[in-house]
Amino acid sequence: MTLRLHDLDLRGFASDNYAGIHPEVLDAITAANQGHQIAYGEDVYTARLQQVFAEHFGDQAQVFPVFNGTGANVVGLQSMLPRWGAVVCTSTAHIHTDEAGAPERVGGIKLLTVDAPDGKLTPELIDQQAWGWGDEHRAQPLVVSITQTTELGTAYTVDEVRAIADHVHSLGMKLHMDGARISNAAATLGLPLRAFTTDAGVDVLSFGGTKNGLLYGEAIVVLNPSASEGLHYLRKLNMQLSSKMRFVSAQLIALLTDDLYLRSAQHANAMAARLRGALEAGIADGSIQGVGFSQETQANGVFATLPAGVADRLREHFRFYDWDASRNEVRWMCSFDTSEQDIDDFVAALTRELATA
Ligand SMILES: Cc1ncc(COP(=O)(O)O)c(C=O)c1O
Repeated sequence: MTLRLHDLDLRGFASDNYAGIHPEVLDAITAANQGHQIAYGEDVYTARLQQVFAEHFGDQAQVFPVFNGTGANVVGLQSMLPRWGAVVCTSTAHIHTDEAGAPERVGGIKLLTVDAPDGKLTPELIDQQAWGWGDEHRAQPLVVSITQTTELGTAYTVDEVRAIADHVHSLGMKLHMDGARISNAAATLGLPLRAFTTDAGVDVLSFGGTKNGLLYGEAIVVLNPSASEGLHYLRKLNMQLSSKMRFVSAQLIALLTDDLYLRSAQHANAMAARLRGALEAGIADGSIQGVGFSQETQANGVFATLPAGVADRLREHFRFYDWDASRNEVRWMCSFDTSEQDIDDFVAALTRELATA
């Protein structure tokens, strides 16, 4: 029987979750796949995971493995809010644009959005929506959610996160971080995970795994226990309680062991830098014309603008998404298994398409 149905030569830059499972993660799943363990998180892997997260984020950290990033965000945010609470976020935040309304429809959470050209909130931008407490007509802004690295491939510095946390807390609000790509942030900042989370004042974190080599699995991490309640019940209520949790936990342990999270993210970031560097070199020597960059490349994504029609022709060979089709803006994401050859092939194909544009 043929088990493999796909073409191994098909490579792309659509998303970091197009990549498969990192071999070290697959080994961890295999190692956990022996004998019986208690279901629903009462297993030894989930107990060990709690220790691992405490080592990375501090002794007070509590970890709740879930299936996916949308689930981590929706359940984590619910645990931070009363029924009348609202969340301030950017208009490009994944919770706003790419979760099918789950925060609103499943979580019952009003989102209050702010435009942020580079995907990053600031205290000043937060103030555009952080007002109206006590007004019974206004959904109460009680949480701010930032994404690290952002949906636009940029990264908050420690000082930027701390300034936001201080501001948010001074307003009596709490700070949530969507860390679907938190490893890429650690890699670009060159800092331990806790430096720009726990130590910078983040209260609750969605810790990403899937985009960095897991089969599937993310975690809600409570960094400030007084900022969250009810997760013991909310996970099941929101269909995010895995019965075979040992396999999610084993993967997350592998990710946080021997710096796998960092090695993989450093590689993905380096491949994005290679792509950006090659394109900039081509622009400088005139071999590439018509390409512009719409964001800084600070992690594993490159955001670019192309002459009309080029993206569609290139997509016949490499998958990637339009980001804003109205201005021919595209997004190219690199993953832990993007190779230098992938980048070089892609740059060569783009150069050929531009020459015929
Ligand atoms: C910023 C961000 N947050 C969260 C997610 C998690 O999404 P999913 O529910 O697909 O795991 C993603 C995935 O695209 C993302 O880019």
